[in-house]
Amino acid sequence: MCGIVAYLGHRKAHEVVIKGLKRLEYRGYDSAGIALLNNGLNIYKKKGKVSDLEATLKEEELNSHIGIGHTRWATHGEPNDVNAHPHYSATESLAIIHNGIIENYSSLKQELINKGYTFRSDTDSEVLIQFIEDIQINNDCTIDEAVRLALTKVVGAYAIVVMSKNDPDTLIAARKGSPLVVGIGKDEFFLASDATPIVEYTNEVVYLNDYEIAIINKNELQLKNTEDIPSTPYIQTLDLELEAIEKGGYEHFMLKEIFEQPKSIMDCMRGRLNANSGRLVLGGIREYANKLINADRIIIVACGTSWHAGLVAEYFIEEFCRIPVEVEYASEFRYRNPVINEGDVVIAISQSGETADTLAAMELAKSKGAIIFGVCNVVGSSIARASHEGAYTHAGPEIGVASTKAFTAQLTVLNMIALRVAHKKGTITESRYRELLVELETIPSKVEKALKLDDQIKEISEVFKDARNFLYLGRGYNFPVALEGALKLKEISYIHAEGYPAAEMKHGPIALIDEEMPVVCIATRDSSYDKIVSNVQEVKARKGKIIAVVTEGDALIPQMADYVIEVPKTDEALMPMVSVIPLQLLSYHIAVMRNCNVDQPRNLAKSVTVE
Ligand code: F6R
Repeated sequence: MCGIVAYLGHRKAHEVVIKGLKRLEYRGYDSAGIALLNNGLNIYKKKGKVSDLEATLKEEELNSHIGIGHTRWATHGEPNDVNAHPHYSATESLAIIHNGIIENYSSLKQELINKGYTFRSDTDSEVLIQFIEDIQINNDCTIDEAVRLALTKVVGAYAIVVMSKNDPDTLIAARKGSPLVVGIGKDEFFLASDATPIVEYTNEVVYLNDYEIAIINKNELQLKNTEDIPSTPYIQTLDLELEAIEKGGYEHFMLKEIFEQPKSIMDCMRGRLNANSGRLVLGGIREYANKLINADRIIIVACGTSWHAGLVAEYFIEEFCRIPVEVEYASEFRYRNPVINEGDVVIAISQSGETADTLAAMELAKSKGAIIFGVCNVVGSSIARASHEGAYTHAGPEIGVASTKAFTAQLTVLNMIALRVAHKKGTITESRYRELLVELETIPSKVEKALKLDDQIKEISEVFKDARNFLYLGRGYNFPVALEGALKLKEISYIHAEGYPAAEMKHGPIALIDEEMPVVCIATRDSSYDKIVSNVQEVKARKGKIIAVVTEGDALIPQMADYVIEVPKTDEALMPMVSVIPLQLLSYHIAVMRNCNVDQPRNLAKSVTVE
C-alpha cells in the first residue's frame, strides 16, 4: 500500500521518479506527489493518478537531480491534494514520503501542538517529518541522526525517505515493516518499495531490513540501525527482466498475467519436478522437512486469494498426507490467542510477501515456537525472509491488482509440498504418487487449452455484464474455486458475488435464485459430480441462469445449463488450476465491458501492508 520512489544521481530526477511511480501504481493510486530541489525544495502533489500529476509538471522547472515521489492509498485522511505525499516539515526545509502507519502519531502530534506546531494535513506522515525537524533543531544534529532519534520514538510501520533543502546530495531512508529496496547504479542511487522501478537502470540492489537506516550521499551508501550500529550493505543481483513488468501488447496486466499461466506454472515446477524419474525436490525445504513430515497439524495463514489457495491445499494435504489442516484468515488468527502446539507447523501463503496481517500471524506463531514455511512470489519479501524455510512460486511479477497467476502458482507449490510429504510419510501409494506427478506436468498444457475458451467466455460475459448479483457454486476441490471466482468478479467489476459450497445453497442462498440470477456452477467430473448435478437441477428448477464449467465431453449437465464451458479433464485434486481459468476470464471481460479499471480497481491496492 502506497508506493515510494526516490532518486539521486546524474539523471533528471523527476523522469526517474514519475516513471517509477507509474510502475508502483498498483500499490495505491488515489493521489501522487513528488519533491524536487530546483530553486528550493518544491513539492508538487495532486489527488488522482500519477499521470494527472505528470500533466501538471512544467518541464522547464524540472532540473533537479534528486527527488522523492509517492503514490498513495489513503490510511489517515481522505485522498486529496493536501493529504498527498510528500509532506514538508514546519520550516519547509525537509520533505518526507512514507508508506505504513505511525500508530502513536496522535500523541506525537499533541506533543508538537503543545510546542506550537501546526499541521497542514491529516496524515501521520506529516507528524513524523515535523517531529524529525523538531529533533534536528533541538539537538543541532545531522538529518540522519534526527531521523534515527525520531524512529526510536515511533511505534508502527514505515518505509520512509527524507530529503533536505540544506543537503542537496543526501537522501535518508529507513524501514520497519514496510518494504524498501536500494538500487545501486554507476554514480546514482534509487530507492523504491519494490524493485520494479529500479530494474531498468541497475540489477544491483540492497533490501533494507527492519530498523535499518540508509544514508545515501552522492557516491556512497551507508547503513546503520536505529541503535546507531553500522552495517555493511549486502548487495544482491536482481533476477528480474524489464519485459516481465511491462504489458507486452496486452490491454491490461491482468489479461497478460492470465495468459502467462501455462508458463508461470511451468516455471514453478522447473528444476523441481521430473515425473519420469519420480523426482520431486524443493530446494528451500531441507532442514525443517522432517518437521513438516511429522507435523501433528498444519495451520495455513493467508488473506484473500492466497487464503483460497490455502483452502485447496487443505483438501489436498488432508487427502494425501493425512495431516489435519486448518486454514486461517491471518487477520483473525493474529488477534484470537490461537492454540499452537509443539507439533504444529505453519504455512504462510502470500503473493507479495508483504501482507501485514499474514506477516503478523506468522510472527505470532513463531513466537509460540512454531516452524514457519513461506509460500511467496516476491523474492526477498518480508514474509519470505521471516520464514524458517519455504518455496517461492516463481510466477514472475504480478502487477494486476486482481491475483491470477499467483493463485495457480501457489497451488502448484502447495501440491508439490504435499506430494513430497505424502511420499516421505508413505501416506500415498507409489502408483498414485507417480500418477499425480505425471498429471501435474500436464497442467500447463491444459491451462493453455482452457485459455482458448477466451472468445466463448467473452460472449457469455456480454450476456451477463449488467447483472447485479452472481452466485458461484462448487463442491470439494472446486468449492474454493467458487470463492475465488466470486472474489475476482466483485473486486474488478463491482458486481456483488458470493461463492458457496453447492450443498450449502439449500441453507439460505437458494432464496436468492430467480430468473435474474446468474449461477456459475463449477461441476467438473469428480467424486462429487452426482451431487453437484442435483444442485444444478435445484438451481434450474428455480429458473436461475446456469453457467456451468464442466469437463470436456460431459453430456449430462449441458442438458440443464444455459451456458456450458468445457475445460480439459484432469485429476480432481489438480482441477482448481484448470477450472479457475474461465472464471478469471469471465471476471476480466465483464469488468472491461463495464468500463471498470481492471488493473487498478477502486479502493484496492496490490500489497496490503496495513492491517
Ligand atoms: C485478490 C487479491 C487479494 C490478495 C490478498 C493477499 O485478487 O489480490 O485478495 O490475494 O490481498 O495478498 P498476498 O497474497 O500478497 O498476501
